[in-house]
Amino acid sequence: MAQSTPKIAPSILAADFSRLGEEVNAVPDADWIHVDIMDGHFVPNLSFGADVTAAVHRITDKKLDVHLMIENPEKWVDNYIEAGADCIVFHVEATKEHVALAQYLRAKGVRAGFSLRPGTPIEDYLDDLEYFDEVIVMSVEPGFGGQSFMPDQLDKVRTLRKVIDERGLDTVIEIDGGISAKTIAQAAEAGVDAFVAGSAVYGAEDPNKAVEELRALAS
Ligand code: DX5
Ligand code: ZN
Repeated sequence: MAQSTPKIAPSILAADFSRLGEEVNAVPDADWIHVDIMDGHFVPNLSFGADVTAAVHRITDKKLDVHLMIENPEKWVDNYIEAGADCIVFHVEATKEHVALAQYLRAKGVRAGFSLRPGTPIEDYLDDLEYFDEVIVMSVEPGFGGQSFMPDQLDKVRTLRKVIDERGLDTVIEIDGGISAKTIAQAAEAGVDAFVAGSAVYGAEDPNKAVEELRALAS
């Protein structure tokens, strides 16, 4: 089981971009703001980049959890460090240098994370967990918000929980995709610490209330 109060990270991918500042400030009880960066190559969708990330950083005190769904993340991370990211999470499928990149990020004073597509096994990365502050388990194919939760990805969470606890690491397990009032409890049960929620937060009438409800259901 996850050890501390569950963290909720609303994804601004599901926000109304024409009112982005208001949407970020509409979730005062969120722990982090999840920022989804898509390049139209690693995933078949394009979102926004470092300038929008910096603009979000300027209007909130919240920590930015930046999820890079982009090719060659090593080429771009400096832009996101400069934009004010607290944690930068890149995909292991997008780089051959995941440990070196994590070491680079930590040396620059940001938290380092990796993420994996649903089809990528976690076993190949367990030996490297000590280099990472966060792992994002994707519970949908990355690229779009509003997709259905893939419960089979919880096996990856259980494996991570066991290894992280056995080794006494403090790597945060985050889950991303299809998290809602219907799915969050099973993810919490499997050992998730932090939950990304896009449509479940920004599709709700009261986004901040949705954050509180999700946290209560995960507790
Ligand atoms: C998907 C993104 C997610 C997405 C989640 O590629 O990484 O962060 O915004 O959206 P929901 O919560 O609607 O599945
Ligand atoms: Zn994401």
